[in-house]
Amino acid sequence: MVKIAPSILSADFANLGKEIKALDQAGADLIHIDVMDGNFVPNLTFGAGVVKALRSYTKLPFDVHLMVKNPDILIPMFVEAGADIITVHAEACKHLDKTLSTIHEYGLRAGVSLNPSTDESCLKYVLEKLDLVLIMSVNPGFGGQSFIESQLQKIAAVKALCAGYDIHVEVDGGINPMTAAKCVAAGADILVAGTAVFAGGEYQKNINNLR
Ligand code: DX5
Ligand code: ZN
Repeated sequence: MVKIAPSILSADFANLGKEIKALDQAGADLIHIDVMDGNFVPNLTFGAGVVKALRSYTKLPFDVHLMVKNPDILIPMFVEAGADIITVHAEACKHLDKTLSTIHEYGLRAGVSLNPSTDESCLKYVLEKLDLVLIMSVNPGFGGQSFIESQLQKIAAVKALCAGYDIHVEVDGGINPMTAAKCVAAGADILVAGTAVFAGGEYQKNINNLR
């Protein structure tokens, strides 16, 4: 069964607590939190303080996607804020193996995200330390972009690379009912969606459509 992780990047930032409650009631499986530093990506979003303030609004897992240049210094703060999964970008980590170990030492699940141009071969020697691979199907930074079709091949390649391991394959960017079906056929089991979940304010209907 595919899991749906709504991205609060598309939520009403003036009412994030209410929005998270509404997503929970609408049947979301995870809450996807896009952390951007204005450096690794050309946009700024939430710090750990915001995540901590949101923690009491749901029991759903917080799926924290760190689009930041120096994830190592931020990891302890997001652990303290109540993250359940922390995903770092392979492109941002000098010592990816060590960063994944650090996330596990805090007792959290660890993910690695790959930009559209990044080859999945960088995962080969860290498979044992991975709980999740997050394939970016847009260039990270903004919601509402179009799905990059070449990433379907990467989903299949990551799925094959992870065979025999207990690793989720998550896809992020440009997900709608059409692209969702292609991603799942290629091997994805978690779909991140912002625009498609928040469209028209009908969260439950939108989540069901994606599922
Ligand atoms: C992009 C973010 C995505 C994005 C998805 O940098 O990581 O989570 O918000 O938004 P949509 O579904 O609108 O492409
Ligand atoms: Zn994301």
